[in-house]
Amino acid sequence: MSRETALPSVESTLHGNILVLTLNNPPVNALGVEVRRGLLAAIDSATDNPAVAAILLVGAGRHFCGGADIREFGKTPQAPTLPAVVKHIEDSPKPVVAAIQGVALGGGLEVALAAHYRLALDGARLGLPEVLLGLLPGAGGTQRLPRLIGAKAALDLMLSGRHVNAREALELQLVDRLADADDALAAGLAYTRELLSSQAGVRRTRDARALGDQPLQREQINAAREQLAHKSKGLLSPHSIIRAVEAALDQPFEQGLQEERRLFLECLDSPQRAGLVHAFFAEREVLKAPETRIAQPRPIEQVAVVGGGTMGAGIAVSALDAGLRVTMIERDQQALDRGRGNVEKVYDGLIEKGRLDAAGKAATLARFSASLDYQDLAQADLVIEAVFEDMAAKQAVFKELDRVCKPGAVLASNTSYLDINAIADSVSRPADVIGLHFFSPANIMKLLEIVVPAKVAADVVATAFELARKLRKVPVRAGVCDGFIGNRILAVYRQAADHMMEDGASPYQIDQALRDFGFPMGPFQVADLAGGDIGWATRKRKAATRDPAARYVQIADRLCERGWFGQKTGRGYYLYAQGPRSASQDPEVLAIIEAERARAGITPRTFSPSEILRRYMAAMINEGANVVHEGIALRPLDVDITFIHGYGFPRYRGGPLKYADQYGLPQVLADIREFAEEDPRFWKPSPLLVELVDRGTDFDSLNHAD
Ligand code: CAA
Ligand code: NAI
Repeated sequence: MSRETALPSVESTLHGNILVLTLNNPPVNALGVEVRRGLLAAIDSATDNPAVAAILLVGAGRHFCGGADIREFGKTPQAPTLPAVVKHIEDSPKPVVAAIQGVALGGGLEVALAAHYRLALDGARLGLPEVLLGLLPGAGGTQRLPRLIGAKAALDLMLSGRHVNAREALELQLVDRLADADDALAAGLAYTRELLSSQAGVRRTRDARALGDQPLQREQINAAREQLAHKSKGLLSPHSIIRAVEAALDQPFEQGLQEERRLFLECLDSPQRAGLVHAFFAEREVLKAPETRIAQPRPIEQVAVVGGGTMGAGIAVSALDAGLRVTMIERDQQALDRGRGNVEKVYDGLIEKGRLDAAGKAATLARFSASLDYQDLAQADLVIEAVFEDMAAKQAVFKELDRVCKPGAVLASNTSYLDINAIADSVSRPADVIGLHFFSPANIMKLLEIVVPAKVAADVVATAFELARKLRKVPVRAGVCDGFIGNRILAVYRQAADHMMEDGASPYQIDQALRDFGFPMGPFQVADLAGGDIGWATRKRKAATRDPAARYVQIADRLCERGWFGQKTGRGYYLYAQGPRSASQDPEVLAIIEAERARAGITPRTFSPSEILRRYMAAMINEGANVVHEGIALRPLDVDITFIHGYGFPRYRGGPLKYADQYGLPQVLADIREFAEEDPRFWKPSPLLVELVDRGTDFDSLNHAD
C-alpha cells in the first residue's frame, strides 16, 4: 500500500492495483468545492497511472456522502460543478466502484450512480431528497436513475425524497451487491478485486435500459403528474422533476442532461429553494439552545401526565410511542376511564387502518398505567401537567407533585398561556419546573415549545431538549410571556383577521386567501377545529384587563353565545351538516357579521386577496419581531420553525420572518405604517423591525450573529 498526493478533502491511497478515493469532509462528506476538485484531480491521476486498474470510492467516517454542500446554494458557483465531476467519474476508462456505508443522498447518490458498480453495506440509506430542498437532482440523477430503475421507481424516490435501505436498494437494482459488513473499505476492496478478476469492465449507468418500454414509462410519468396536481400544490420542483424524467425518456442522454441543468438552475434561483434550505438549517439550529451546550440531560425513563383530556392523552401516546413508561393521573374514576379511553382510541384507530395489530397495542399499553393516587408518581423522572387552563388548578397539582415526586424529577406544565414563573414559585423546587407546550394532537404535531422560566436549572432545559429528541419533536426554546412564541403571535394576527372580517371581508374569503398562500387551513377553519369555547373563556377572563380603547371585534362572541363552537357542535364559522369533514359557508354567520358591522357603525368595503395577505402577514411579522426583540425567541429562525411545525406555515416559504426578508422589510414597515393611519393603536411598528430597516439589513442577519 502506498500513499499518493491528493487534496485534503479526498484522500487517495493505492491498495495493490486499486486506487481508493476516500471522501473526507466531516460530518457528512458533503460535496463542497474542495471535494469536487479533489475528486476530479484524483480520477485524472488514476487514468494516467498505469499501476491503477480500478478505482474504489468510499466515505470517511459514518457516511458515504450526504450530497452537495447545501451551504453553497445561493452563493457564486465555483468550478468544477458537480455534474462535471460526475461525468468525469462515469467517463473513467477504468472501472469505478462505490462502496456505500451510512448515507448516499442527493449528489452523494449521483456520484454513486456515475460509478460503474455499487455495493451497499447493511444499514446504508440511499435517496434523492433534493425535492425537500426545493431542488431536483442536478448532477445527472434525473437522467441516470430512470435509465437504471425505470421511471416509476425513479419518480417515487425523487418526488418523495425518501431514503431506501440497502435491501430495497438491491431489489430496485439501485445497487449491485449487499455486504453484511461494517467496513466499507474492506468490503469494497473485496468486491473490486472480484470484479477485476472476472474482467468486469466499465459499465455506464447512462447505457442502462430500464426505460426500454416507452409507452409504459410514459403512462407512469403521466400518472405521477396527475397525482402531483392533488398533492404538491404551489411547489415548483416536483413538476421540474417530472419534466426532467420526461426528458430522459424523450431525449438522448446529453440533451436530457442539459434540460436537467436548466430546470435545476431554475429551482436553485427560486425563493422556494431559499425557504426550504432555510428550514433545513433552522431545524438544526433550534437544537442548539445555550443550556444544551453547558448541561447534560437528566435520565428519563418513567414519565407521568396529570390530566387525561385532549392534551394529556396525546402526550401520553407520544411518550408511549417513544418507548417510555407512562402513568396517567386524573381527578376521579370517570375522568380516569375517559383518559385511558382517549389513549386506547389512538391505537384502535391504527388497528382499524391496519397499521397496528392487537398484540402491538397490548405491548404498548403494557407500559401504560392510570391512577388516582399521586403517590404513584414517586418514581417518575418527568411529570407533565395538562389539567384545565386555570392557575389555581395548576398550582394545586404542582403542590401535590412537590409533595410526592423524588428529588430531581422534572416538573413540567403544558399550559398555553399561563405564567410558568408563577407556577414555579408556588413549589419548593422552582429549578425543576419548566414549560413543555405540546400542540394538538400532541402525538402528531411536531412542535414542542420549551418554555424556560427564570429559575429553571440548565440541566432541566437540556432534559427537555433530550425528551424532544426521544419523542421526535422539533423543539423551540421560548421565554415566558402570554402565549410564548406561537400563541402570542397568533393572538395578534387573529385580531388582524377579525378586523378585516368586521371591515368587509368574509371569513371564507380570508381563509381562501391564506390557503392560496400555502396554509393548509385558514384562521377561521382553524378556530372551528380547535373549538371556539376555549378562546371565548380566555376572552371573558381577560375582559376586565382589556384596554377599553382598543378595537374589539365581537363576532366570535356572538357565535359562541349561540353555542356554535365549531366542528364539535356542528357549526361555527362554517356549517358542518355532514360531520367535521363537511364544511360549507353559512348565510346565518354572514348575517351575524352584517349585524355586527352595523352595530359598530362600519360601512363594509371589499378586500382583495393580496390585501388580506398583506395585513395578515404584516401583523404576524410585526409580532414575530417583537418576540425576538424581547428575547422570547432566541432568533428569528425560532419563530420560523414554530410556525412551520405548529401553525401550518408553508415550509417552502421558510417561516414568517424568512418570508418577510424575501418580501422586503422596508415594504413590511411601509405596510404597517399605512395600516396605522386607520388604527395606530393596533399597528405599532416593532422597534426591531424599524431598526433592521434603518440598518438596511434583514432578519436572517440575526440568525448568524453569535
Ligand atoms: N451540506 C452541508 N451540510 C450538511 C449537509 C449537506 N448536504 N448534510 C448535513 N449537513 C450538516 C448539518 O447542517 C449539520 O450541521 P451542524 O452540526 O452544524 O448543525 C451536520 O451536517 C450534521 O447533520 P445532521 O444533524 O442532520 O446529522 P444526522 O446524522 O442526523 O443526519 C444526514 C445526516 C442524513 C446526512 C442529514 O444531515 C441530511 O439529511 N442531510 C441532507 C441531505 C441532503 O438533502 N442532500 C441533498 C443535498 S442537495 C444535492 O445534493 C443537490 C444536487 O444534486 C446537486
Ligand atoms: P381537557 O379539558 O381536554 O383536559 C383536561 C383534563 O384535566 C380533564 O380530563 C380533567 O378531568 C383533568 N383534570 C382537571 N383537573 C385535574 C386535577 N386536579 N388532577 C388531575 N386531572 C385533572 O383540556 P386540554 O385541551 O387537554 O388542555 C389541557 C392543558 O393543555 C391546558 O392547560 C391547555 O391550555 C393546554 N393546551 C391545550 C391545547 C389544545 O389544543 N387543547 C394545546 C396546547 C396546550
